[in-house]
Amino acid sequence: MKILAFETSCDETGVAVVENGRRVLSNLLFSQIKLHAPHGGVVPEIAARNHLVKIIPLLDQALKKAQVTKKDINAIATVPGPGLISSLIVGLETAKALSFAWQKPLLAVNHLEGHFYSNWLEKNRKDQPRFPVVALIVSGGHTTLIYAKDHLKFKIIGSTRDDAAGEAFDKGARLLDLPYPGGPNLSKLAKQGNPMAFNFPRPMKTSPDLDFSFSGLKTDLLRHTQTTKLTPKTKKDLAASYQEAIIDSLLIKAKKAVAQYQPFSFLLSGGVSANYLLRQQIRFQIPKIIPDIKIFLPNLKFCTDNAAMIAAAGYQHYRQKNFATLNLKADPNLQLS
Ligand code: KG4
Ligand code: ZN
Repeated sequence: MKILAFETSCDETGVAVVENGRRVLSNLLFSQIKLHAPHGGVVPEIAARNHLVKIIPLLDQALKKAQVTKKDINAIATVPGPGLISSLIVGLETAKALSFAWQKPLLAVNHLEGHFYSNWLEKNRKDQPRFPVVALIVSGGHTTLIYAKDHLKFKIIGSTRDDAAGEAFDKGARLLDLPYPGGPNLSKLAKQGNPMAFNFPRPMKTSPDLDFSFSGLKTDLLRHTQTTKLTPKTKKDLAASYQEAIIDSLLIKAKKAVAQYQPFSFLLSGGVSANYLLRQQIRFQIPKIIPDIKIFLPNLKFCTDNAAMIAAAGYQHYRQKNFATLNLKADPNLQLS
């Protein structure tokens, strides 16, 4: 069962071929980081234009690398949302055109489902998440806690009230004058700093729900940058203390969700799951709540946006015969249902 998938929801053009929802035959990505870096963030028009330029050459390469032709493809997966509308449309319309021309079923994958299923990619068969699961998806656009009883049976149990965790990293990086992409650069600098040097709150620490809030942290960082002389050392300490506050806030609610829902497995995913401190702390802290819980962290290459994860999620839709029609429309605010 081979699925061809497209991912163009933001600034990465991704095309992949994945077998049986797990075995990655090809996973090609054109990262537009260099094109957006001079602007300090993603420029939607530049993103869409470059998706258009890259998508067909990447399709050709992805098929070639996977050593397949259109005859071998069973279905085509695409992302109607959430994401940037002009970017989403490129992947979506390409997938629809191919579905029509090649007469292959079309699969609609919510971008967050893709992140969720990144934990199924390229692991040995025994080692796959077992339901029920609690999943924490932390990306540039989302900070979401999910409880899933079974495949594609998602219940959102917590989310951010304002900024996403990745956004907090990116905005923090900008305040510290770090280049785009902010998250990885702030995290790199934080490695050399003292996380106890500056005092940051843990927003919503004691709230009874499973929600998050990060916009206050950013304001605190701004205040610290205005009241502290920014030397290379204080920048490192600010980065370390700020990062610690973000990760701690994520951990507090992740642990609470695990205690409340008693899952068999805990899954981390989304761009911020590439963060070394978050990965380390999840492994260390979650078993304090349920000692024999199975923890899954995506392989680093599947943390940030990629098309292989869309194929992995598409496979579950295919198994449930949940096919989309050619009327499928892009929806920048698509909710997980
Ligand atoms: O999942 P993703 O590629 O795109 C969205 O769906 O948003 O996530 C991108 C986000 C960005 O905010 C980026 O700064 C953050 O993930 N990120 C990181 C790290 N690597 C990527 N944040 C913290 N530490 C990292 N190592
Ligand atoms: Zn993403």
